Amino acid sequence: MRKNIVAGNWKMNTTVPEGVQLAKEVVEKSKEVPAEVGLIVATPFTHLCPVAEVLKGTRVELSAQNCADKEKGAYTGEVSVGMLVSTGAKWTILGHSERRQYYGENDSKLVDKVQLALAAGLKVILCVGENLDEREAGKHFDVVKTQTENVLYHFTAEDMKNIVVAYEPVWAIGTGKTATAEQAQEIHACIRKVLAAKFGAQVADDTTILYGGSCKPSNAKELFAQPDIDGGLIGGAALKADDFIGIAMSF
Ligand code: 13P
Repeated sequence: MRKNIVAGNWKMNTTVPEGVQLAKEVVEKSKEVPAEVGLIVATPFTHLCPVAEVLKGTRVELSAQNCADKEKGAYTGEVSVGMLVSTGAKWTILGHSERRQYYGENDSKLVDKVQLALAAGLKVILCVGENLDEREAGKHFDVVKTQTENVLYHFTAEDMKNIVVAYEPVWAIGTGKTATAEQAQEIHACIRKVLAAKFGAQVADDTTILYGGSCKPSNAKELFAQPDIDGGLIGGAALKADDFIGIAMSF
């Protein structure tokens, strides 16, 4: 049985004290969320250690938002998977569209990053999603299929136990324009089919697939009611503990 998860991607928001405060509020309110729902916060690198302290012994798990594509060495400004693990992080987001769009993240780099993350014992939230031009040209299924195959087909069924996929249509991120539940569901079903083709129906069925893009308490229920939507990757609404927990209560 796959797990329902709500993950907050804080992106490049909050100072360290603000992030610590937000994490404390999330922990406090997490008591309201049914125990079977997984809760994750993905903080900036600078926040990982102090937020790990706040999350210690709680149900809320810690994630990074990226990692280096090299193990260690002379790569100024990069943060390795080993460093992430040493902070207490259990997860990293990889392949977010903002990284693909602004920082030249490509599928081959992502394969290296996923490999390193899994080898270090981190779980991965791999993001895929089409941009507005691709959707308007009717290429959204193809784009998502290719992005998924290009990265995940390098891995094994065993690896998939530690990988979550997040479908984030770029046109819905931070725009207030959510994909309809039907639009999201049909892509999620497509991703599951792509996984089934490589890993078999059982692995596909066991893989958590999150939706991300202007998800908020008011639309989460309808999205999460879809058979292939197993939770959310939340940006803006994750910066307010009430909204984040409100979303997590929407299953
Ligand atoms: P928003 O929820 O702000 O649209 O961001 C979604 C996202 O990119 C999460 O990774």
